[in-house]
Amino acid sequence: MSALPSSLATAARRPIRELPDELISQIAAGEVVERPASVVRELLDNALDAGSRQITVRLSAGGVRLISVEDDGQGLPRDELPLALRRHATSKIASLNDLETVGTMGFRGEALAAMNAIAELSLQSRFHAADSAFALDGRTGELRPVARATGTTVEVRELFFATPARRKFLKTDATELAHCIEAVRRHALARPDVGFSVWHEGRLVEQWRAADARERRLADALGEDFVAQSVAVEHAAGPVRVAGRAGIPDAARSRADQQFFYVNGRFVRDKVLAHAVRSAYEDVLHGQRQPVYALYLEIDPARVDVNVHPTKIEVRFRDGREVHQAVRHAIENALAAPRAGEAAAVAAEPFFKPLSPQPAPSWTQPVIHFAAERGLGDSAAMWPGERNDIAATPATPFTAPAPIKPAPAADEARAWPLGRALAQLQGIYILAENSQGLVIVDMHAAHERIVYERLKTQLDGAAITSQPLLIPATFAATPQEVATAEACAAVLPSLGLEIMPFSPRTLAVRAVPGTLADGDPVELARSVLAELANHDASTVVQRAQNELLSTMACHGAVRANRRLTIDEMNGLLRQMEATERSDQCNHGRPTWRQVSIRELDSLFMRGR
Ligand SMILES: Nc1ncnc2c1ncn2[C@@H]1O[C@H](COP(=O)(O)OP(=O)(O)O)[C@@H](O)[C@H]1O
Ligand SMILES: [Mg+2]
Repeated sequence: MSALPSSLATAARRPIRELPDELISQIAAGEVVERPASVVRELLDNALDAGSRQITVRLSAGGVRLISVEDDGQGLPRDELPLALRRHATSKIASLNDLETVGTMGFRGEALAAMNAIAELSLQSRFHAADSAFALDGRTGELRPVARATGTTVEVRELFFATPARRKFLKTDATELAHCIEAVRRHALARPDVGFSVWHEGRLVEQWRAADARERRLADALGEDFVAQSVAVEHAAGPVRVAGRAGIPDAARSRADQQFFYVNGRFVRDKVLAHAVRSAYEDVLHGQRQPVYALYLEIDPARVDVNVHPTKIEVRFRDGREVHQAVRHAIENALAAPRAGEAAAVAAEPFFKPLSPQPAPSWTQPVIHFAAERGLGDSAAMWPGERNDIAATPATPFTAPAPIKPAPAADEARAWPLGRALAQLQGIYILAENSQGLVIVDMHAAHERIVYERLKTQLDGAAITSQPLLIPATFAATPQEVATAEACAAVLPSLGLEIMPFSPRTLAVRAVPGTLADGDPVELARSVLAELANHDASTVVQRAQNELLSTMACHGAVRANRRLTIDEMNGLLRQMEATERSDQCNHGRPTWRQVSIRELDSLFMRGR
């Protein structure tokens, strides 16, 4: 028999004992209450569950000295005040069945007990059906009558006074205050119908009045720019409904600080949702830029488990794939419409200096689908590269550029969202005139997107052509990679890949997509297998395809320094107007910018 290391063998051992109740509460509290903002979050949850219309948050020293949340909800009957502070005592669920379909923010009956264990708590409430109010002192348990209107006030003083170690982890008052305000903002974005105000040291620091439209609250709590630079999202798929607003690619930021996702009114950070959003923006967002959004997912409560995280910030969907697809489609659809004309003032904004948003012009003429008017066979006006791409995908005839119509009358042309071409600049930019002023188009970026979107449509559903390798490339694979290759044997061919087990620890790459034949097949195989292992197969196929097509489009698009005729330029502008996502190139950079007459005037200090 092997001996224990001497240090362990001789270590003093205490007999097993049950922890005292107070210590259990303090340990449990650590899970729920990390900082003042956690208290604010829990108290707001309670106030909303009680049906409040107006909520006032008062803070002192960033919430460390005092957090008070006053509401005008239904209140608590006198007899239940002491119960509210007991662990696992709740009015919100009574059975496992209730838990599975829970619609309230709270349900564990933990929060008030946790706060009472680590701070000085007092509770004041007047029940809606009672004619008097009572106050409960959490420490002494003393109940006494007080005067107040229907509703509840919870005061939490000297947070972590009993656990100084914890208190040391807190940041400055200003930082804790900022977190508290953020917690209120998150609730405010979920419930525009409720009024919120936040006071710090007796000064009003934030106030959001009850609003009847979500857009109003979004503008109040996130700024008018958030609404001006986002598009409405509204999408229903089976049991899932997604609404809210998604920022246009131009509004993306370097930090992920304006991303709000709600599931049945609860703010969450969820991997499935985050991934769905990322993949929706993948096609239009540049590099590491972070999109802004406020999205609201409604789903049958029985299809989502909210009881998976101590602070309930994570959820688990019964069918993650169904939710992923609904969210991705919701955002993709919202972003796909070309915005020329509709949000021209916004697109112009970064150019010279910020302008207050102008009213969107109402176009008297519908967007002209130029491609549809074009006949086949006028090779003179054909874009370079297009012909090759057509040849590569013979199944779908490519709409070739048409004989050019006579130049439109100036008035007619000004009604086109992207206007009438005037000239080409430095072989890179097209200059055009529309009703608002000057339009500048990056012709390669724009054409790349047009070719890419066409290829996507053409290849929809069909598989990528693959090219067998003369000598299969073998590599030592991890058990995970081998397992994935086997599990995804049916998916790999549609990606143009053939990856076979060679021995129990070796995989062989026998074919790669034709367009990637020059690359490193092992590197490609490994990254695809890694993606496949992480995500559900359908999105990987879609994303890999898009990447391949994007590469092809780049080669197919008109190059810089090619001289274009005015008619060719007009042709490109009309194609852009008719192409989804044409406001961004395949790498997420903008394809066009508006410079308004007002901006030009101000450049020349010309008063109008
Ligand atoms: N602001 C409030 N208004 C009315 N009742 C409240 C309020 N806050 C707490 N309560 C009551 O106290 C109970 C315990 O609250 P809490 O500890 O947060 O647990 P939970 O919210 O999970 O039920 C609640 O179930 C509710 O009945
Ligand atoms: Mg609660």
